[in-house]
Amino acid sequence: MKEKIWLSSPHMGGAELKYINQAFEENWISPLGPNVNGFENDLELFLGENVHVAALMSGTSAIHIALILLNVKPGDEVLCQSLTFSASANPIVYMGASPVFIDSEDETWNISPVALEEAIVDGIKRGKKPKAIIAVCIYGMPYKVDEIRAIADKYQIPLIDDSAEALGSMYKGIKCGTFGDLSILSFNGNKIITSSGGGALVVKNRKYKDKAVFLSTQAKDAAPHYQHSELGYNYRLSNICAGIGRGQMEVLNDRVIQRRQNHEFYASFLSELPGVTLFSEPNEDYFCNYWLSVILIDPSKAKRDRDSVREGMLKENIEVRPLWKPLHLQPVFKTSRFYGTGVSEKLFTQGLCLPSGSNLTENEKIHIKNVLLNLL
Ligand SMILES: Cc1ncc(COP(=O)(O)O)c(C=O)c1O
Repeated sequence: MKEKIWLSSPHMGGAELKYINQAFEENWISPLGPNVNGFENDLELFLGENVHVAALMSGTSAIHIALILLNVKPGDEVLCQSLTFSASANPIVYMGASPVFIDSEDETWNISPVALEEAIVDGIKRGKKPKAIIAVCIYGMPYKVDEIRAIADKYQIPLIDDSAEALGSMYKGIKCGTFGDLSILSFNGNKIITSSGGGALVVKNRKYKDKAVFLSTQAKDAAPHYQHSELGYNYRLSNICAGIGRGQMEVLNDRVIQRRQNHEFYASFLSELPGVTLFSEPNEDYFCNYWLSVILIDPSKAKRDRDSVREGMLKENIEVRPLWKPLHLQPVFKTSRFYGTGVSEKLFTQGLCLPSGSNLTENEKIHIKNVLLNLL
């Protein structure tokens, strides 16, 4: 059996251990310290746009804190892109609020402006004006930023930009992770860079950052004893994990180049195959980090359907996955509202995520190509 080829595995740059060793030497083995501040500075410099970054334990905790900062309350409704990982929506339920799911459009596969506006208008009619919109840059692809921002502004609803998968992507030259009133990033082990586990809240308002740090370090009031006027969370990133993150920031630009090269590699031989479409930037406004390279297989035109290609690849020990199952189809969210026309469901039935790690070797790529060409 050939060695397993992973979908997206961690890819260390080499400098990570230097920062971890420093933390050990200085005994900063805690959820604060020079690496936490350093990682936040590195991200602020990378993202630009005068943002402030709070390093947290995960992208999920960053969304949770974002919803708290937006004052979401039990019974409120929050609009969320349906084609995404469940972590985009779970924190809505942690708040006692209800997610309302929005379909995708078929250019960026992200939140559809048409379905979004329909949901807002209907929510207002029902006396439930949505408290926030969560738009996702799926597989690293920016959503239709200008259109979604215009709708958010028209109805005065705050936008949360879930750029968990999109560090290094851009829309009109501006980095993903800066488009929301609050934005979030993830450094989970499968992402373009990892801190082994971690996330960040990205804000333009310094007060939001200070409040996020306060809430994520147990909401301790200024007092000699432990005093709490608000509910706190233990969500701050550890100084060790932040050290890994700092090392990874040194190679982030290389990682974007390498993932984009993977996409070019797939484009070089998949474009000729009948019924196969590689998910690609719609026009020059979009710059995708291609966190994952993804294809659609149209069963009416291709040699095989998605599932038989998936099984064929797995037999060769090549890890592939269907797309995220839209959240409005998930049993856990079966009672939630949904606005759309079936785009995300079609993408789910036809889509396959291909190995996309920045550490794929030439030999692995040759093997993947041979197996895919053989199957398709
Ligand atoms: C779109 C999206 N949102 C949120 C998350 C949550 O991030 P984390 O795993 O760091 O909690 C992830 C990834 O895991 C994700 O892919």
